[in-house]
Amino acid sequence: MKFFIDTANLDQIREAQDLGVLNGVTTNPSLMAKEGITGEENVRAHYKAICEIVDGDVSAEVIATDLEGIIREGESLAALHPKIVVKVPMIREGVKALKYFSGKGIRTNCTLVFSAGQALLAAKAGASYVSPFIGRLDDISTDGLQLIEDIRLIYDNYGFETEILAASVRHPVHILECAKIGADVMTGPLSAILALLNHPLTDKGLAQFLADHAKANKLQETA
Ligand code: E4P
Repeated sequence: MKFFIDTANLDQIREAQDLGVLNGVTTNPSLMAKEGITGEENVRAHYKAICEIVDGDVSAEVIATDLEGIIREGESLAALHPKIVVKVPMIREGVKALKYFSGKGIRTNCTLVFSAGQALLAAKAGASYVSPFIGRLDDISTDGLQLIEDIRLIYDNYGFETEILAASVRHPVHILECAKIGADVMTGPLSAILALLNHPLTDKGLAQFLADHAKANKLQETA
């Protein structure tokens, strides 16, 4: 399963890249706003900066909601860097745009997907990635992971090549469950990725190993 980080924060992207397990980045307009990135030129420069750091795909979301606008914006974003994947919302005009981009060889990520029907439409329109938001479904007492399972089944039934990008991942258990189900990609915060590292027995075991090593070496020195 590929690991994407879901942020527009350059320090966090660098930290995840340095760990050596990062395969890409997803952003959205809220994440860009959170970093204070405003104005077309600054937004474009920020996407380029992300592309320079990460070794993998970088999702850049369109703001337009009409077909002509989505196409104009998507083509312009795609021209920024070969790593850019155009993120398109799951709306009627978005589906048409996915089809258009797929015909032009422009890679896409269909975002704001909350049902298997929407995922089926995205795949039929030729999306490169589909982003079901599991955390936001969990937030409204719906099983987000069940949606990933349903989409996996449907895509496997018909051999769709669209990659399932489990989004709105909030914690390490989401990541593990997505891996068990067979999501192609997960995108989440740095905290969820780093949380995979932790186990109290690892900390306890390492402390013991180091203490035993120090004791043995001290004994040898005084012998
Ligand atoms: C996906 O690409 C979105 O950017 C993201 O995963 C949304 O996550 P959130 O629900 O934690 O905002």
